Amino acid sequence: MSPGALSARPSITLKLATSLDGRIALANGESKWITGVEARLETHKLRAAHDAVIVGSETVLADDPELTARLDPMPGKQPLRIVADGRGRLSPNARIFRTVSLGPVAIATLETTDLDALGWPSERGLQYWMTPPDLATGHLAISGILEAAARARVSSLMVEGGGQLAVSFMRAGVVDRIEWFRASILLGADARPCLGGLGLEKLAAAPTYQRISVKQVGADLWESYVRKN
Ligand SMILES: NC(=O)c1ccc[n+]([C@@H]2O[C@H](COP(=O)([O-])OP(=O)(O)OC[C@H]3O[C@@H](n4cnc5c(N)ncnc54)[C@H](OP(=O)(O)O)[C@@H]3O)[C@@H](O)[C@H]2O)c1
Repeated sequence: MSPGALSARPSITLKLATSLDGRIALANGESKWITGVEARLETHKLRAAHDAVIVGSETVLADDPELTARLDPMPGKQPLRIVADGRGRLSPNARIFRTVSLGPVAIATLETTDLDALGWPSERGLQYWMTPPDLATGHLAISGILEAAARARVSSLMVEGGGQLAVSFMRAGVVDRIEWFRASILLGADARPCLGGLGLEKLAAAPTYQRISVKQVGADLWESYVRKN
C-alpha cells in the first residue's frame, strides 16, 4: 500500500520505547519498565494528543494494559483504544474490557471470528471491527483496520507496538512519524525486537526517516522522526 492509497486514512505515529539496541521486551515478555517515569509521562501526553492508539494482541496478553492517557489533571477526552486481535485470543476479563467506562474501545478481529463463542462483553463504548485478513500473512489487513478507523472518525492514530504489529504498519508504508524513547540499557538479540522483519533485499528500499528533534527525558533519549520516502 502506498502512503496515499487510503485518501482518508489517519496520520500514523509509531511510538517505540526501547533499549539502546532496539528491544522492547525480554524473550519471556517482561518489559516493565525499560524507559523511566519521565518518558512514560510523555507517552501519556502523546496518547492524549491522538484520536486513537493501537496495540497487538500479544501486548495485551503479556501486559494487560489499560492504554488510557493518565495525566494530572486527566484529559477531557480519552483516545479510542484499539486492539488488533485477529484470532480472538483476548480474555473477556482483560483490563481493556473492564475499563470501557473510562473511554471507548475497539477490538479489530478477523471477519470470520465467532464473537458469540468468545463471551466478549457488549456495552456502550465498545466496538468490534470485523476486518478482512491480509492474504499474505493471515493477520488483519492494515488497510481494513485503517478503513474502520476512518469510519470511526479517527484522524490520528498512534501505534504502540509490539514489534509484530509495528512492522505490519511499516510494511504497509503508512507510518508518518516515529516517537522513539531509548533507554541506556542493552537487552541483546534474544530479547523481542521493536520491529519484526521487513524482508528487505536492497538498502534503497528501506523506509527512511528524518530526525526532527532530540530531547533528554529523565535518563532516556526521545527522538522524533518524520517520513522521508
Ligand atoms: N517497550 C514497549 O514500548 C512495548 C510496547 C508494546 C509491547 N511491548 C512488549 O512487546 C511484547 C509483544 O510484542 P510482539 O511483537 O510479540 O506482539 P504484538 O505486536 O503486540 O502482537 C502481535 C499479535 O497481534 C496480532 N495482529 C493482528 N493484526 C496484526 C497485524 N496486521 N500484524 C501483526 N500482528 C497482528 C497477531 O495475533 P493474531 O494472529 O491473534 O491476530 C500477532 O500475533 C510484549 O512482551 C510487550 O510487553 C513493549
